[in-house]
Amino acid sequence: MDRDIIPVGVKDFQIDLFEGQYAVPKGMAYNSYLIKDEKTAVVDTVERGFAGEWLTNVERALGGAKPDYLIVQHMEPDHSGSIAAFAERWPEATVVSSAKAFSMMKAFYGDEYAERRLVVKEGDVLALGNHSLRFIGAPMVHWPEVLFSLDETTGTLFSADAFGRFGADAETSGPDVMAEAKRYYFGIVGKYGTQVKAVLKKLEGAAVNTICPTHGNVIEDGLDKWLEAYSKWADYAPDCDGALIAYTSVYGNTKAAAELLAELMRERGCPQVSVMDLARSDVSEAVAAAFSFGTLVLASTTYNNEVFPAMRRFISELTERNFQKRTVGIIENGSWAPQAAKVMKAMLEKSKDIVFAEPTVTIASSLGDASRAQLTALTDALCAK
Ligand code: FEO
Repeated sequence: MDRDIIPVGVKDFQIDLFEGQYAVPKGMAYNSYLIKDEKTAVVDTVERGFAGEWLTNVERALGGAKPDYLIVQHMEPDHSGSIAAFAERWPEATVVSSAKAFSMMKAFYGDEYAERRLVVKEGDVLALGNHSLRFIGAPMVHWPEVLFSLDETTGTLFSADAFGRFGADAETSGPDVMAEAKRYYFGIVGKYGTQVKAVLKKLEGAAVNTICPTHGNVIEDGLDKWLEAYSKWADYAPDCDGALIAYTSVYGNTKAAAELLAELMRERGCPQVSVMDLARSDVSEAVAAAFSFGTLVLASTTYNNEVFPAMRRFISELTERNFQKRTVGIIENGSWAPQAAKVMKAMLEKSKDIVFAEPTVTIASSLGDASRAQLTALTDALCAK
């Protein structure tokens, strides 16, 4: 990274659930950056509980100087929570942000810094001396006020939440990093594929060589891999050709059907088959897995004339995030009035480009000859495509 750009963020290893719902066993980083130049700018703040540690980091990086600007790219409190602490510490500094963000600042914190602010928009340039920051609108990635800042001097993109990941660990590459980036993407940004594609288009032709997101690690190596991944995810295209079989089971009979289907598909040479018990899996991992594969099989018992609660939540999490372009197989179980298939199909009826594989498998309490034959036929359908 350019030597004028100094990370001043913090790492949160106490947090259990990010945004109140995502398990983060490796913690969470709230990144912030200082750009030292003739004028000095701080990009984004951190979660309020870390204000003291962050101010210390900023002061140390400043080395006795005073900051001229605080650039607020995104108003979600994990990044805006220490604006007031900054404003109080450095009352001469100018707060730079979008008009929408200043409205949010007033709503969140009761101040929009009218006497000391600079409102910027897409295409505006903030000259710091050697470094020039061009602002790029990134609306709905994943909030409406978001700006990216591109340092055109060094090719450094400050990308707000985009290209972030769960985890505050020191890893910068490898399968865990990309897995956590994918779980983060589909959890936080997944609904907004169209908007992600729009901002990726704006970046085409920009000479970006470093990405500084507000979560995770600075990206310097493998930049193409990240951009390709974001492009694919924004397009809701699967990463691989295999299948996720997601099941809920009360007494093990629906589980047995899910496992039998996996066995049959593997025997047919289906490249990768993953089986998840939704009641015992992290739902954000299940969501990321569903978006990874081209095929999803849903297997649920009928419960209260509906589907099992974990299955209902899982499908809702998918449809909220624009789940689409997939082949879906359905397995239901019911001891007297099976309803799960009808309910699961209805939950997906507004999802685009979903092809239901036939047949729908119906289990009457436990696997029998008829349901085994249906599973074989479903295997034929899924593995033929
Ligand atoms: Fe990391 Fe949307 O805040």
